[in-house]
Amino acid sequence: MNKNIAVIKGDGIGPEIVTEAMKILDRTAEKFGHCFSYEQLLMGGCSIDVNGVPLTDETIERAKAADAVLMGSIGGNTSTSPWYKLPADKRPEAGLLKLRKSLNLFANLRPAVLYSELKDACPLKAEIAEKGFDMMIMRELTGGLYFGARETREIDGVMTAVDTLTYNENEIRRIAVRAFDIAMKRRKKVTSVDKANVLDSSRLWRKVVEEVARDYPGVSYEHMLVDNCAMQLVKDPAQFDVVLTENMFGDILSDEASMITGSIGMLASASLNDTKFGLYEPSGGSAPDIAGQNKANPIATILSAAMLLRFSFDMDKEADAVEAAVDKALKDGYRTGDIMSDGMKLVSCSEMGDVIAANI
Ligand code: IPM
Ligand code: MG
Repeated sequence: MNKNIAVIKGDGIGPEIVTEAMKILDRTAEKFGHCFSYEQLLMGGCSIDVNGVPLTDETIERAKAADAVLMGSIGGNTSTSPWYKLPADKRPEAGLLKLRKSLNLFANLRPAVLYSELKDACPLKAEIAEKGFDMMIMRELTGGLYFGARETREIDGVMTAVDTLTYNENEIRRIAVRAFDIAMKRRKKVTSVDKANVLDSSRLWRKVVEEVARDYPGVSYEHMLVDNCAMQLVKDPAQFDVVLTENMFGDILSDEASMITGSIGMLASASLNDTKFGLYEPSGGSAPDIAGQNKANPIATILSAAMLLRFSFDMDKEADAVEAAVDKALKDGYRTGDIMSDGMKLVSCSEMGDVIAANI
C-alpha cells in the first residue's frame, strides 16, 4: 500500500524520537511490502523561528491532505525560551491546540501499560506493580477549558482572569461512543471520570454517558470523581480498563498514568477524528533538558507509529509486529536512561531505534 505521512518533528527531543519512529515505519514497509512517503511540516517553536507563528494555514492544509500525521513534541523551557515571551496565542502550544481543533481530533487515546520488564521502574509499591495494569485513557481533546472563551482584564481595579469550561451533549456523546466501542474490544469496562459533585459540565457529562451506556449492555461502566481517580491510579491501577474523561482531567490523569508505567517516555497516543485520519504523538513533552543529546526514549513515538498503522491504515499485522519488536527489545534488556535499572544495557535513542528495527 502507498501512504503519505505528514511528519511534524517539532522541538526539543522531537526530531530525535521521530527519526527513530520513521526508521521503524521504513523497516515495517520494507518487511510488509508497503511504500510510505513523508512530508515534513513545521509546527511549534521551530515554526515560530521560521514563520513567526506556531502553525500556518498552509501547514494545516498539508496535514489534512496526508493519510495520517506523525508528530514528535513541541515547546521549550517555559522560563527561559524566548517563545514564551510571545503572547499566549503565538506560543508553541497554541499551534498544537489549533491543529487539534482544525483537524477535529476529538478523541485522544492514551494507552498506559505496565510492561512486566519495567516493574522495577514503576514507582508504586512492589505488590501493586506485581499485579500490572493495562488501561486506555480516552481524553476528549477539542472542548472544555482548552477551547472555551478566556480573558484577563482589570475589573474594579483588580486583575481578573476567566477561563470557560463548556461542553455540549454532542461533544460528550461522540467521545463516549468511542470509549464504549473501544471497551468492547478490550475488557468491557468503562470508568467515566468527572467532577459531578461540583461542575454543571460534569453533570451533563454523566447524563450523556448513561444514555450511551444503554446501547452497550455488554460493557460495565461506573462514574468516578476525578480526585478519587487520581488516588485510585496509584492505589489500584489494575482496576481500570477504559478511562473516559474530559480534556483537562485527561491531560492531568494521563501524565499520572504515564508516570506509573515507569516513564513518560513509554506512553503513546492517537488523536482521531470521525474518519480514519489521526495524529499520532508521544504523550510526553519536548524535554529541552536532554534535547540533542541522543538520550531520549523513542519508544512512546514508536508505539504511536504502531497506533498509526493500526487505526489510520488498518495494518494490524504490521502494528503487532512493531509492538512485538518493542517487547523483545525490553525483554532483551535494552534500556534508555529514563528506564534504566541494574544489570540492563544502557542504549542511546538511535541505538534503541536500531534494536527495535532489527527485531521486525
Ligand atoms: C498534552 C500536552 C498538551 C496538552 C500541551 C502541550 C498543550 O500536555 O498533549 O498532554 O495540554 O494537551
Ligand atoms: Mg499533557
